[in-house]
Amino acid sequence: MKNTFQAPKGTRDFMPEAMAVRRYIEETWRRVSVRHGFLEVDGPTFESLELYKVKSGDEIVSQLFSFRDRGDRELALRPEFTPTLARMVAAQAQGLPRPIKWFSIPRCYRAEQPQKGRLREFIQWNVDFLADPTPRCEQECLMLCIETLREFGLQAGDFRIGWNNRDWLTQALTSTFVAPERVGDAYFILDRLAKLDAAGRRELYAQRQCPPREQSQFDLFAAAISSEPAAPDALMQIMSTWPQEVRDGIKAFESRIADIGLGEYCRFDLSVVRGLAYYTGFVFEVLDAKSHNRAMAGGGRYDRLIETFGGPSMPAIGFGMGDVVLEIVLRERGVLPRQLLSAPDVFVLSALPDEQPVQQILMALRRSTWDSASQRVAQAGLHAVASYKATRNIGKLLPEAVASGARVAVILAPEELARGVAKIKNLITRTEREAPLEAAALAAQVRAELQSG
Ligand code: HAM
Repeated sequence: MKNTFQAPKGTRDFMPEAMAVRRYIEETWRRVSVRHGFLEVDGPTFESLELYKVKSGDEIVSQLFSFRDRGDRELALRPEFTPTLARMVAAQAQGLPRPIKWFSIPRCYRAEQPQKGRLREFIQWNVDFLADPTPRCEQECLMLCIETLREFGLQAGDFRIGWNNRDWLTQALTSTFVAPERVGDAYFILDRLAKLDAAGRRELYAQRQCPPREQSQFDLFAAAISSEPAAPDALMQIMSTWPQEVRDGIKAFESRIADIGLGEYCRFDLSVVRGLAYYTGFVFEVLDAKSHNRAMAGGGRYDRLIETFGGPSMPAIGFGMGDVVLEIVLRERGVLPRQLLSAPDVFVLSALPDEQPVQQILMALRRSTWDSASQRVAQAGLHAVASYKATRNIGKLLPEAVASGARVAVILAPEELARGVAKIKNLITRTEREAPLEAAALAAQVRAELQSG
């Protein structure tokens, strides 16, 4: 009996088309990060289990894929990158040029119940800005996040960034209706309010043992959060009871964001508190503005994490964006390019009985030239393919060359071979000319044809 295997629950196989989509997403993340002055880093796929227990929070710890190695050490596959980054920065802090602007594109693993937008293995772009005490860190992170989404073809109406500030919210809650020891419960409730109806809220209040005053206030919060766009009156009513300095802080932040042209994307959002335990002040989430997809990205300040990991006290902020929800949103908006597999530059067609001339020409076309002075490739080889069909009938092979998207075809046939030439056919203009058969000379002529447009 044959064994049949399936990919584990919540994982994906990347066949060529899916892989091209993944590379497109990763390369866009990488390109825009570099343009914003961030340097790429990476770390191990697994870490000691303890690293995630220190400060990520119960939810993530409950989703860990953990195991013991042969030395009986407890390890876990990384569910996120932030603890690794904090460990790396804490260990190297003295020697690192500041500020630290890093990005990474790790695969992450969470034993979640697979559902739309949530898998057990996903790719998460991380952007982190550390060791700079000014508010430009928030601004640069938002700038990069928004610019990247725009580069994917999304516009202001497609997504919105809901932001909040945990310090201000704590101040507002404790000065109005939440006892200091119940702030954790209040966050737990706020994190879930947007997804619950009245009955769901009652259940949540009972579960977190909310006193009646909290319940009526959270109902007000729910009214302010649930309507789309957020009910400005309900929000104003709530905020009118908050300390002046909190309201001033919100206004000042809004105006700084507006100054750099990001105002239309960002909105103060009561329901954004973030589940991870290490966040300290500013937090944000990128939400699909048109349908109820899960958050595309989330992040915030984690000013105490580097210290917790044995490093110096250091301001830090960052966010993570997963590939899964992003791809769903790009497809739903119709902005994912249809053809992502790269088309060849040149297609070699042969009517010759012998395969070797084709191989020689492919070799010359694909070969790069290396420049030892600059230690770089001086001239990149061409993307060159040939037909693997058995037929030697050029008329039958030509449609394959055209369908491949190649701009130029090289045609080898006995009559030309006898005269020491090959044909170069421009598949766009449909013009043909002859070129010397010798491989290097032919490759040069193909390049010239490609450059002629
Ligand atoms: P997070 O909110 O847990 O934050 O994840 C950020 C993003 O990763 C989510 O918005 C989502 O797009 C994606 N994501 C998370 N879990 C899954 C999953 N099971 N399947 C597919 N996608 C998922 C963090 O991880 C923080 N460490 C981000 C950060 C970086 N904060 C500061 N720096």
